[in-house]
Amino acid sequence: MVTAAAPAIAADPERVRAFLDELATIGADPLGGWSRLAFGSEERRAHAVFARELATLGARVRTDAVGNTIALLPGRDDGLPALATGSHLDSVYRGGNFDGAAGVAAAVETARILVDEGGLRHPVLVVAFAAEEGARFGVPCIGSRTIAGACNADALRAMVDRDGRTAFECAAEVGLDPAAAATARWDLSRVACFVEVHIEQGAVLQDARAPLGIVTVIGGSRRSQLTFMGVADHSGATPMRLRKDALTAAAEFILEVEHRARMQPTAVATVGRVRVCPNSITTVPGTVSLTLDVRDVDARRQQALSYALRDRARAIATARSIELSIEDLSQQSPVALDTRMRRALEDAARSLGRCCLSMPSGASHDAAHLAPHVPTGMVFVPCLDGISHAPEEFADAADIARAAEVVALAFREADRREGPERLPTA
Ligand code: GLV
Ligand code: MN
Ligand code: MN
Repeated sequence: MVTAAAPAIAADPERVRAFLDELATIGADPLGGWSRLAFGSEERRAHAVFARELATLGARVRTDAVGNTIALLPGRDDGLPALATGSHLDSVYRGGNFDGAAGVAAAVETARILVDEGGLRHPVLVVAFAAEEGARFGVPCIGSRTIAGACNADALRAMVDRDGRTAFECAAEVGLDPAAAATARWDLSRVACFVEVHIEQGAVLQDARAPLGIVTVIGGSRRSQLTFMGVADHSGATPMRLRKDALTAAAEFILEVEHRARMQPTAVATVGRVRVCPNSITTVPGTVSLTLDVRDVDARRQQALSYALRDRARAIATARSIELSIEDLSQQSPVALDTRMRRALEDAARSLGRCCLSMPSGASHDAAHLAPHVPTGMVFVPCLDGISHAPEEFADAADIARAAEVVALAFREADRREGPERLPTA
């Protein structure tokens, strides 16, 4: 429980708003929304804003080989493992200004609160992870995977964006050092816990009028690219019975994806990107590539649906006498978050007089890559009408500030614990 004598914790929503407003000047897409893509120059500019803020607070700030920006606020006992918090600053194509950025804004505010109070015994790490969004390279959470030792230079060479450019070359182009990705790995025994604040990206909190959510499990996501290869041919001269139309095969498959996912209680499945070749009015489509993203908070069901959909794609291709290739892009199983961290965050929220809901996360997060190694928690803030990955995405600075207070209080309480031990896992 939180000690009654502890001083009041006060975040400033105006500072949170100002930080987010400054980020909003970076990467505004002429077609609407924000495109601060993974390993793009806009992502780096956003990281520079974060680095400046933390340097102002007296943190030692560095950028690692893959672009994670890591700010260390020294503790009174630097022999203790660090309390860590953060999120990401990149966006999807034409996304919003809050996915990731809200969590980084909260982390900056948490750091300010702790500095204003005179700091902690434990060092505090405030992190802006690089390249969280899988929208560009298919693989999400590149920065946090690298920190956890699950991504290296060869993996970066194998990731390709829709223009055929590799993550490795894009990272190098913005001044990073992807060949040295292995050096970005953390000694995670030096981290006591990690907390990520994030917008909910759904409407559960708004509907319940709850200001905060505490995440129980982060859903898994299996992403693949399927290519249907038929025969490009004349749209006037080719009779229907002789066609090998890759697009009609893909269309049949896409409807099947929707149908099968709807039959599952918690699954979601999305075909989000489709490429038609030659994409011409007067040619029967010869080749169609599409991405498939299958997600669930239940590992068994996620795997079963992924495999069932692949089988359906093969059956559709066979029935239409066309070829099919399937390429795995990334696989992340659902991750349950640490129950003691959840309780610590709930206790902190309660002591601040905030009600909070326990809830799963359908979206992927950097926290999922820290969770297997360190006690990890997540705090959700409501986002307007649940809209995310779209320009209309919005979260209230006051809600983000409240989440920052919860993290600051949870860190303060963890700091009060006797001894240099790590927070025990559940
Ligand atoms: C990250 O935003 C995801 O795709 O879940
Ligand atoms: Mn995010
Ligand atoms: Mn996102």
